[in-house]
Amino acid sequence: MQSSLPLTIERASGVPLHLQLAQQFRAAVLDGRLQAGHRLPSTRDLARELSVSRSVTQAAYDQLHAEGWIEGRTGAGTFVTDVAPLQPAVRRRTPHHPDADANLLTLRPGIPYIAPTPDPGWRRAWREVSTQSPPGGYDDAAGLPALRTALAEHVARVRGIACGPENVLVTNGTVHGLRLLLAVTQRPGDRIAIEDPGYLNAVAAANDHRLEIVDVPVDEDGLQVGALTDDVAAVYVTPSHQYPLGGRLPVARRNELVRWARRTGSLLIEDDYDSEFRYDVAPLPALAQLDLERVVHLGTLSKTLSPSLRLGWLVASETMVERLAAFRANSGDWPGWPMQAALLAMLRDGYLDLAVRRGRRLYADRRTHTCAVLAPYGQVIGQDAGLHITLLLPDDVDDTRIAAAAREAGVVVAALSEYRRTVPGPPGLVIGYATPSTPDLHRALTILTEVLSRR
Ligand SMILES: Cc1ncc(COP(=O)(O)O)c(C=O)c1O
Repeated sequence: MQSSLPLTIERASGVPLHLQLAQQFRAAVLDGRLQAGHRLPSTRDLARELSVSRSVTQAAYDQLHAEGWIEGRTGAGTFVTDVAPLQPAVRRRTPHHPDADANLLTLRPGIPYIAPTPDPGWRRAWREVSTQSPPGGYDDAAGLPALRTALAEHVARVRGIACGPENVLVTNGTVHGLRLLLAVTQRPGDRIAIEDPGYLNAVAAANDHRLEIVDVPVDEDGLQVGALTDDVAAVYVTPSHQYPLGGRLPVARRNELVRWARRTGSLLIEDDYDSEFRYDVAPLPALAQLDLERVVHLGTLSKTLSPSLRLGWLVASETMVERLAAFRANSGDWPGWPMQAALLAMLRDGYLDLAVRRGRRLYADRRTHTCAVLAPYGQVIGQDAGLHITLLLPDDVDDTRIAAAAREAGVVVAALSEYRRTVPGPPGLVIGYATPSTPDLHRALTILTEVLSRR
């Protein structure tokens, strides 16, 4: 008896032959080509038909039998069962094909340069973690005490924020800290002011918490503090390098913002995502340095080491940290011990400082090159700090069309309009110069300027 199914065997595939057969039978049952009650050929006939040994067809049938797809009836043969087994509720994803974007050069902002070879400092930290047994229980929900102490010292040294371990909570990065903060301090319907244009993940976090978002305009210096209305319960702000326009909030505006928050009782959320990188300009005080009662400060390793670490910190008043840790204690939602222990080792050995110093040197040159290459095509802004610049374009330009044309030509770049909500402003491109290698950055900029000249 023929199987009546177009069964194939691929000997070179590396998949055992009986599994190949079983898989084809299963698929035929699921898509209805084999109906319940259908009689299957004997293992001997099938083996002959496919030129495989009988042990192969027997093993395939045994497997299908064990899974309930087929049943043997004494003396009559092997049949497809009446009830096809339930398909797994979660369908397997379609196999992951190498990303079509893999060959594109990226100038999208957000990701630092990751050297292909790991550093001795990085390796040392992980080696150290690997030689310790994990703690015998759940860790403190605020973070490992030793790490909180080390982070408090770090933040005090590099950001001038007078704080101790009681002011620090270890997070899985900025967005994680922001979401936790919103969950604990805001109620649905509360109003939150967010820079416009601004960081899309902050907007998404506020939306997910069903907050009412108030779009606040931004100029070349950052948030326009004078535009804030007194009825907002919180303000999300990127004072060290406004995202995406790149302004650095001047001291007078910082003071004005803190004074405003003291008067209104509003919470200031300071996203300090890339303050480690600034070029030829003096540091500005962190908002949290001015008033830790009113400000919650969010720091991250995403720009200094890698976003894939998912590690960061939140600095706030002791009362706030206690509230957040108490909320988190029941959820188990904090960074795992190996990550925290490795960061502790990196801080202790000065590895984070080293990575920042190296990054500054590397990015300073790239920034200068990027600005010089793009200056003829528009107005370059936001170049004093961070890992991206913004190129403002003439009003009649459609920046999404330019971004699409750049992509077509092999370069991914972000259109400024992606970040705008309701406050109007000029079109532009947001260009991250950190991610590619230096030769790739040069190639990408050459392609981008060709696209810009064609416009
Ligand atoms: C404005 C802003 N904040 C924060 C982050 C980093 O977020 P996280 O620490 O969650 O990786 C980014 C990364 O692109 C960013 O652009």
